Amino acid sequence: MIYQIYPRSFQDSDGDGVGDLAGIIARLDHVAELGVDAIWLSPVFVSPMADFGYDVADYCGIDSLFGDLETFDRLLAEVHRRGMKLLLDFVPNHSSDRHPWFRESRSGRDYPRRDWYIWRDAKPDGGPPNNWISDFGGSAWTWDEPTRQYYLHAFLPQQPDLNWRNPDLKRAMMDVLRFWFDRGVDGFRIDVLWHIVKAQGLPDNPPNPDWTPALTERDRLIQHHSTDQPEAHAISAEFRALADGYGDRVLIGEIYLPNEQRARWYGTPEKPQVHLPYNFQLIASEWDAAPLRDLIASYLASLPAHGWPNWVLGNHDSPRIAGRIGERQARVAMMLLLTLRGTPTLYQGDELAIGRVTIPPDCIRDPQHFRQPALDIGRDPSRTPMPWDVSPNAGFTAGEPWLPLNPDWLARNVAAQDGDPASMLSLTKALLTLRRAEPALAVGEMRLLDAPDGVLAYERTHEGRTLTVLLNLTARPIPLGWSGTPLLSTLMTGAEAGVLHPDEGLVLQ
Ligand code: NOJ
Ligand code: MG
Repeated sequence: MIYQIYPRSFQDSDGDGVGDLAGIIARLDHVAELGVDAIWLSPVFVSPMADFGYDVADYCGIDSLFGDLETFDRLLAEVHRRGMKLLLDFVPNHSSDRHPWFRESRSGRDYPRRDWYIWRDAKPDGGPPNNWISDFGGSAWTWDEPTRQYYLHAFLPQQPDLNWRNPDLKRAMMDVLRFWFDRGVDGFRIDVLWHIVKAQGLPDNPPNPDWTPALTERDRLIQHHSTDQPEAHAISAEFRALADGYGDRVLIGEIYLPNEQRARWYGTPEKPQVHLPYNFQLIASEWDAAPLRDLIASYLASLPAHGWPNWVLGNHDSPRIAGRIGERQARVAMMLLLTLRGTPTLYQGDELAIGRVTIPPDCIRDPQHFRQPALDIGRDPSRTPMPWDVSPNAGFTAGEPWLPLNPDWLARNVAAQDGDPASMLSLTKALLTLRRAEPALAVGEMRLLDAPDGVLAYERTHEGRTLTVLLNLTARPIPLGWSGTPLLSTLMTGAEAGVLHPDEGLVLQ
């Protein structure tokens, strides 16, 4: 069970309105009490924050906004003392344009580190070298007038792509992993892993025949030549070999690909790649029993025999689940996440069912919004600060929070939900307690069951013990002749035989 902390928004300790490492240390008991195995921290490295830390200017330093290495070591020790693991966010596809490597690279065409990034001449008409589009919209190429070449960036111009075909760059980045493993971190979530190598010759990407203006600019093209290259798989196997050399460590790949392509990131038993290629399908799925059933079946069927599944319901890049499907169904979704076969990742705040938050225009911060303002794809609404209690700014900061809080924070906060046995937080804890007590839920086999329309049903079995999960994906009661002993209902009341209440999920023995 992994819990994602978005450090800017977890807890501020110094009144600057931005969360920091000392703040996280102060709030670790909340995470430990949930019953989490590992914490993944979004980037805390030195950064000019053009993409809020996903633009790294020193891979081995902590940004002063968040603290320093000493505080980091203290955080690591405090996490370990509570029996949890700590995962960092490795950002190998690109650095910041302020990274000394890029400053050197752009200082002259003959500079030795020129080739650590991806530079190309203009087309004869002066245009960019190919048609690639940045994931944030606009060309993926920016012209550098002093050296009269374009550099490639899959994201912001402030995030130049690194050249993993250069052996010196590769060695330097491998050393980054060693630096943190040597310090004792337990693993990494690897940012946009499937992006890190581009096809030789950088050919144009093919147009996407299904593109409509409702989609992002990036989706005009199929990222056939700019992502998912065999050389990236080979590097991923090298990451794994390095991690395995440290013993019990884990690698998670951020990968947005269809099932069959994603499954290849597990590698083979002889040459494994990442332990968990992230599976984001629940985030965007139509919220109904039939499509969810298909999604689960086809995902599980796509895994290689040695591939352990994983599930994600939310993160700092996606709209909040409770905003998308409503709080009542978000409770059903939590039961789904925590009873499916596979490692779940829970995003901070989802344990409170934080819903839709509207960010006033003058408070918008996310660069993704500013690159394509018409699309309303800003990520700030899922990055609002954690509401802890009813003290000023919900206990998040003594200063001015960098983003507004969820508007209902006076009622929807950790302290309030801790005191309410029927709250989302209490449900989340009950689910995690059950998952810990029942190996069938943690590691059991999974079988999808036939069920009436609107109900998603499955069994988890381990060493002869079988638990059944029944989820009502609708807001109407569904007559259902179930038998067995109810262990937990999402309604946190005694379940009633013969019916699934509206929006009810049940775990039965
Ligand atoms: C994925 C990260 O989750 C996202 O927040 C970031 O903007 C991009 N990668 C670029 O690093
Ligand atoms: Mg702070």
